[in-house]
Amino acid sequence: MNETLSKALNDQLNYELYSAHVYLAVAAYCSGESLDGFANFFMVQAEEEKFHAMKIYKYLNDRGLRATLSGMDTPINEYSSVLDAYEHAYKHEQEVTRRIYHLSDLALNDREHATIQFLKWFIDEQVEEESMFDTIINKLKRIEKDSNAFFMMDAEFATRTFTPPAL
Ligand code: FEO
Repeated sequence: MNETLSKALNDQLNYELYSAHVYLAVAAYCSGESLDGFANFFMVQAEEEKFHAMKIYKYLNDRGLRATLSGMDTPINEYSSVLDAYEHAYKHEQEVTRRIYHLSDLALNDREHATIQFLKWFIDEQVEEESMFDTIINKLKRIEKDSNAFFMMDAEFATRTFTPPAL
């Protein structure tokens, strides 16, 4: 694999860790609002992002390359509402998708078939993640003035868990 591609994969590993950081900050915002279910949703999301990072970490290792860790920007720690937080999360996922597509373009240009195959999992994952956030935003908009439905959603998200699949 060429250096541009391996560097971009390493950058994505760091961006996935940054995503975990972003979602942990959202979880903290929700905890501060006493919305423990929404907080749990974003803590679980942060775990998923760490898993994504470790998937790339292992892949680099398997390909005889070494992951290097970089510093990260301060995530947004304040939101005006839960809906605002989900809208930011959705935009964040759209940026992740853009980056994964860019990585795929680099792998295609390099005719790096193993990496093209590896990235397919991430492409599918992004379809799921964007769809999940989009659906939740639509629901939140619909129940905007119905506090019962809002707290039911909070209770529902308290049950979300993440069991990491094999890397
Ligand atoms: Fe790792 Fe939410 O993309």
